[in-house]
Formats: sequence, structure tokens, C-alpha cells
Amino acid sequence: MSGGIAAYKSAEIVRLLRKQGCEVRVVMTASAQRFVTPLTFQALSGQTVHSDLFDIAQEQAMSHIHLARWADALLIAPASADLLAKMAHGLADDLLSTLCLAAQCPVYLAPAMNQAMWQHPAVKDNLALLRQRGVRVIGPASGEQACGEQGLGRMSEPSAICDVLMATDTTALLAGRKVMITAGPTREPIDPVRFISNRSSGRMGYAIAEAARDAGAQVTLVSGPVALPSPHGVRVIAVESAKAMHDGVMRRIDDCDIFIGAAAVADYRPAQVADAKLKKHDDTLAIVLEKNPDIIATVASLARKPFVVGFAAETDDLERYALGKLRDKNLDMIAANWVGQAEGGFDSERNALDVYWPGGHQALAMADKRELARRLILLIAQRRNENHTT
Ligand code: PMT
Repeated sequence: MSGGIAAYKSAEIVRLLRKQGCEVRVVMTASAQRFVTPLTFQALSGQTVHSDLFDIAQEQAMSHIHLARWADALLIAPASADLLAKMAHGLADDLLSTLCLAAQCPVYLAPAMNQAMWQHPAVKDNLALLRQRGVRVIGPASGEQACGEQGLGRMSEPSAICDVLMATDTTALLAGRKVMITAGPTREPIDPVRFISNRSSGRMGYAIAEAARDAGAQVTLVSGPVALPSPHGVRVIAVESAKAMHDGVMRRIDDCDIFIGAAAVADYRPAQVADAKLKKHDDTLAIVLEKNPDIIATVASLARKPFVVGFAAETDDLERYALGKLRDKNLDMIAANWVGQAEGGFDSERNALDVYWPGGHQALAMADKRELARRLILLIAQRRNENHTT
């Protein structure tokens, strides 16, 4: 626990985790102890609370290295802006920050801070760096804050944090599996300087790639042009057009176990690409388009077909169109999302999905795309296992 008014909620996290059979050891920074007392956490966890890097008595019993080795997961709740900065830069001047460096288990953060602090570019950069290194971020939630302001930044509810911690213990869920994911938009050239494209940022596909990697899979990400850093430990194949994405996928699909098509692939491309920049003449200009290959349908028609998960991006009649694509493209599962709304879909940090498979449906509620991707990977792994055992 680092310092923050949300520290009082961490008592409930300890209680819920213990109820689910977890052993919990609590490490508190000096600031955390200004908000709540170690005694509360000692009573709830049934264990001595650790706080001092240089406490001789505690060091003899269990040093930061021992604590790091002991834990199956490290959850920092609340995670303050200061703690994020220390983690991002590798500072280690107290027990908690030292533990963060020593930990080799999955690390989860439940950030809690004022909404303006959460929006600050320094916090965003630190968080992006930590995510890139594989740290998993739960929340924050939106709503009224202790300071009286409204917005994103309050710590997620204890039950939501525990759900993520327990449900996304996916570490070995896809161990040894080969997963290919497409992400981002495609660009269909008109002439040497112009193209047709769409609003996909790649965030959804990149988050899925990270979640699959965290679940132990060997991940190949075939990506259209995006402004995102390559996820650590993921093989990224950069492409531009739908045809190049098709070729990039088909060249590597052979021994793939799971294929997830999160890319917004252009359905059509200009039939003729001009060699020189088109000049302005008439009041109107007609460009003839021809159909692109349907990548996911091609993958789903292979003799040795992987488990194929498609996406459906719709502005209307979501369920009907999604079920139509599930059937017509011979998919095993489809994740449907609304696009063109105020929140979710294209170029948004958050999204919600309705996931359908033959005879089944599960709604994944609005959440940060990384959190959503973890839930989706869990569902995919469950469905794939059921398919293999029936
Ligand atoms: O990238 P973000 O900004 O994070 O936004 C995420 C997203 C909205 C792009 C993503 O969640 C999403 O919905 N991706 C699929 C978008 C899309 O093209 O949907 P579609 O309904 O047009 O296509 C259906 C499926 O066929 C998709 O799996 C698509 O990848 C695939 N497809 C489509 C055309 C084509 N030629 N080849 C394909 O493989």
C-alpha cells in the first residue's frame, strides 16, 4: 500500500482475498500509515505488517527478497502517482519500492489519485512505461473523489480488484500456445501520398497481444500503422495495406493455435493506384474500389484451422450483424463492439464487448482496454478448452 485516502478500502481487499483462501502479507509505505494503521492490516491478514526496509527484527524474519520470492502476485492498492513514478524509474528507497524491483511474480497496480493528477502527462507516461514492461493496471474508476471533484482516478472497488486478481491469474492459461493477433487500421493507397483508412488506434489489438503474452502464449502481432510502442516479448509484423496484412498472416499461420482478428481491415481498396499525385481538376472525383481479401474468413477456411476469434464493429443492430459474421465467416467466437459512440470502440481508452459463440453469449462490461483484453483472453482460453474436450 502506498499513501492515499483510498487506503481504507484496502482493508476490504485483504478481507476478500483471505475469504477466497489467499495468504496475504501487507507492506505499507510511511505515507500509507498516515491514512490507516498497520494494526488494522495485521488483524485482517493475521500476519505482521512490513514497512521498514531497515527494521532489524523484520529483516531477520523476512527481507524484501524473501517477500518477493514468497508472493505469487504483488498488488499495490492504492498505487499513488509518486509510487508509479518511482516504479517507472527504478527508485528503491523504501521497502515497497525495493520489493517492486525484486518481484518476479505478476505485478498489479490499482491507481488512486485526483482526476487532474491522473490526466497529467507525467503520470500517463509512467503508466505507459510500466504497462509496456508487463505491469497490469486495474482501474481506476470514475466518480466522485475524496477532494470533491468528479472524474477518473478513484481506486476501483475492492470486489472488482479481487475479481481481476483472481480471474486473471492467467499466467499459465495459454502456456506453449501460439497466438496470432491482427491490430490497427489498414491503409489503402490512392496515389503516392494519399490513402483510405479508418479510426482504429490499435489499442484493442495491442492490449489483447499483451494479455495473451501474460497468459504464457507465444504471440505474433500483425499490425497496421499505429502510434503505439511494440509490446515487450511480442513478435510484431508491421504492415500497411489489407493485402500486406493478409500476406503477413498467411505466411505465419501454419502452426498457430489461436487467431484473433482485432484489426479494422479495409473491405475495399482503390482498383488503380496512381503512379503520380492526383491533380485537382473537376468538382467531383470518382475512385473505383475493389474488394480486399477477407483475412479472417481465409484463416477460418484452412484445413488445419486454429481457434478463430473475430471482432464486429457496428453502428447499429450489433447482435444481428455479429451473429451473421460469426456464421458467414465460420468463426469460433466473435467479440462485438459499438463504434461511433461517445465512449468505446475506435480510438478510445475503454471499450465494452458482447462476445458470442455458437449457442452462447457473455457481456464484458465497459473497462480499460487492457482489463477487457484480459477478460477476453480468459474467455477465449475457456471456450477453446471446451471445444477441445467435446
Ligand atoms: O484499434 P482501436 O482504436 O482500439 O479500436 C478497436 C476496434 C474498434 C478496431 C476493434 O475493437 C474492432 O472492432 N476491430 C474489428 C473492426 C472491423 O473491421 O470489424 P468488421 O466488422 O468490419 O470485420 C469483422 C471481422 O473481419 C474482424 O475480425 C476483422 O478483423 C475481419 N476482417 C474484415 C475485413 C477483411 N478484409 N478482413 C478481415 O479479416
